[in-house]
Amino acid sequence: MTALRIGLVGIGNMGSMYARNLLEGKAPGAELAGLCCNINLDRLKTSFPDTPGWNNAGMMFAEGNLHAVIIATPHDSHVPLGIAALEAGLHVMVEKPIAVHKAAAERLIAAHQGRETQVFSAMFNQRTDPRYQWVRARIADGTLGRIHRANWIITDWFRPEAYYASGSWRASWAGDGGGVLLNQCPHQLDLWQWMFGMPSRIRAFCHLGRFHDIEVEDDVTAYLEYENGMSGVFITTTGEAPGTNRLEIAAENGRVVIEGKNLCFDRNTVPVSKFSVETDKPFSAPETERQTEHFETIGEQHIGILKNFVAAIQGREKLIAPAAEGIHSVELGNAMLLSGLTDKTIDLPLDAKAYEKQLKKLIESSTLKKK
Ligand SMILES: NC(=O)c1ccc[n+]([C@@H]2O[C@H](COP(=O)([O-])OP(=O)(O)OC[C@H]3O[C@@H](n4cnc5c(N)ncnc54)[C@H](O)[C@@H]3O)[C@@H](O)[C@H]2O)c1
Repeated sequence: MTALRIGLVGIGNMGSMYARNLLEGKAPGAELAGLCCNINLDRLKTSFPDTPGWNNAGMMFAEGNLHAVIIATPHDSHVPLGIAALEAGLHVMVEKPIAVHKAAAERLIAAHQGRETQVFSAMFNQRTDPRYQWVRARIADGTLGRIHRANWIITDWFRPEAYYASGSWRASWAGDGGGVLLNQCPHQLDLWQWMFGMPSRIRAFCHLGRFHDIEVEDDVTAYLEYENGMSGVFITTTGEAPGTNRLEIAAENGRVVIEGKNLCFDRNTVPVSKFSVETDKPFSAPETERQTEHFETIGEQHIGILKNFVAAIQGREKLIAPAAEGIHSVELGNAMLLSGLTDKTIDLPLDAKAYEKQLKKLIESSTLKKK
């Protein structure tokens, strides 16, 4: 089988990593065939002397003789570059978030319609984490029963000021499209909807620049409600250290807690609602049996998604993270921001056009350029 020729757009932190992964043969069947960076092509030639380089993505798509492309650029460019790559007939992997707002995500997904033979994936590497795969599988097979509540405290995304100063696009409404919700949390927001589906209402409190000299949110507490009665709380920040990553799920058949490498399932011997109507003891609760799972690794992460992208193109595997599913994490992040900014509860599906207008206003009133 001929090697799959992959080009990379954006050779910063992530693009450099993917370039090394491909050069080191970590995605068997694929080779690094082109690099594109809009600035500093000379640096590229020094770091990757044997790989052809371009400073214009459109030219690389046209001249690079590529089969596929990975887009690892700042957020606001994912949609135009993704559309251009799809229209050039390439298989595409786009970094998270697939877009900065829902309407843009819809435009990107629409560009894939009618081109289903082109594989279109998103880099949701945390879908390879066996802890979240365990939860998703146990919800699907009914082990947990109806989910009543999920609480996720994901505050171990600490970033110092130097991080925000490391790229002019970072922490800006124009480039990043938001803060912790659009940059760090697309992973957890994606996992949330992957495990629990989409809520019908969100109320959130978002603090802009609470811990950093930035214009976007770096501290969020959101309450989510579902049609089926489930509720949830999602708490995140880039300002606390040490942070926490704790997911707690209260279900009909017990409670799951994931923290660190351990997943603990306290299984009710009698489902909670059945017990509640059947017991005659006023202060009793169902007995539980503890099941502890210890996970030594967090899965293959980026390499797993990269290998899966190659395998999907070769027709050997189904995609782990189809790009079209990336709209959900965008929508959750947008709805939380809109709720925080307007001090209102937001009904989902989110009005994509209204949010686009809101973001436009934020970009127009940004003082970053003036600084
Ligand atoms: N999946 C993950 O775990 C993970 C982790 C970190 C970042 N990311 C995502 O990866 C993407 C890139 O982040 P990063 O930290 O590598 O950023 P970065 O700033 O280090 O690199 C981005 C690069 O893209 C280049 N670029 C910008 N516009 C371009 C264009 N139009 N054409 C070609 N090159 C262009 C810039 O010059 C820069 O070299 C973002 O979407 C980010 O959210 C994902």
